[in-house]
Amino acid sequence: MLKKLFAVAACAMTITSTSAFSAQQNGPIVIKFAHVVADDTPKGQGALLFKKLVEERLEGKVAVEVYANSSLVGDADEMQALKDGKVQMLAPSLAKFGAYTKQLQIYDLPFLFDDLDAVNRFQKRAKGRQLLRSMEDKGIIGLAYWHNGMKQLSANKALHMPADAAGLKFRIQPSDVLSAQFNQLSASPEIMPFSEVFKGLQTGAVQGAENPWSNIYSKKLNTVQPYITETNHGVLDYMLVSNPTFWYGIPHATRVVLEGIIDEVTYSVNRHAEEANLADRNRIESSGSSQIIVLDDQQRQAWREAMKPVWAQFEQEIGADVMKAAQIVNRKSRK
Ligand code: LMR
Repeated sequence: MLKKLFAVAACAMTITSTSAFSAQQNGPIVIKFAHVVADDTPKGQGALLFKKLVEERLEGKVAVEVYANSSLVGDADEMQALKDGKVQMLAPSLAKFGAYTKQLQIYDLPFLFDDLDAVNRFQKRAKGRQLLRSMEDKGIIGLAYWHNGMKQLSANKALHMPADAAGLKFRIQPSDVLSAQFNQLSASPEIMPFSEVFKGLQTGAVQGAENPWSNIYSKKLNTVQPYITETNHGVLDYMLVSNPTFWYGIPHATRVVLEGIIDEVTYSVNRHAEEANLADRNRIESSGSSQIIVLDDQQRQAWREAMKPVWAQFEQEIGADVMKAAQIVNRKSRK
């Protein structure tokens, strides 16, 4: 049995090194990095910085092509494209992995993480790191977490209390947790690709959405959403992913350099994401396009109480160990 395993491993190694070798023989290894947001967002900037550093340090060995704004693949077909080798790197929102692992649903639970610092702590600890490897058997390897920011609720009417959302249709990412969250408000969740959100809100196909400030501003969603409530009710972060067959097929020395670059880019993205979101919040405010509704403690608590029952619905799927690890990262004591 052991002999057989070694034979399979040796064969796999030959195949991988041969394909990596031929990739180098025929020119640089090409990494097509596709994403759905604008360049001027934490993820967009991260992709461009990755390209720049790879060009500086691995010239002739690796070439990076960045495709922003769903220009190569959209969020509905990007994961299949990764498996098929049409793209080599993606950074989908953590809400978009539901078909591959239920554990990552932890990130969609409303009011679980108090702020981005808490999310950061979870991602750095053992359980958070383990989740990067939770989809390898499905052909997806997690290379890093990248922050965007906390989500805000926008709508065509003012949302002060949870009851104000009742009856409205909200665009959501394809996530069972996010669907349950809006059902909890007696609102209707509507799955829609990111590239269609502006149009959906403009035409009234949906009346509301949840996004970090940077996604609202860079896609001009504020121009079609007269009210934005600063709920910070959940997080929208990313996992930088690749296809394990591709990734482990890269010659070791080159891969080590790429991993170092990823660490550097991750540090930069995660350091600047919060200030980028804050800057976009201020741009939206000074543009006068939308009224920004700031919640007082009592109102925020009402939103929390309205959404929190969602946790119990998903606890079993996510796993008690992951739930427990996430619940100890908040610093503030709660009333
Ligand atoms: C969304 O679909 O709202 C986000 O996942 C877009 C993104 O990548 O930030």
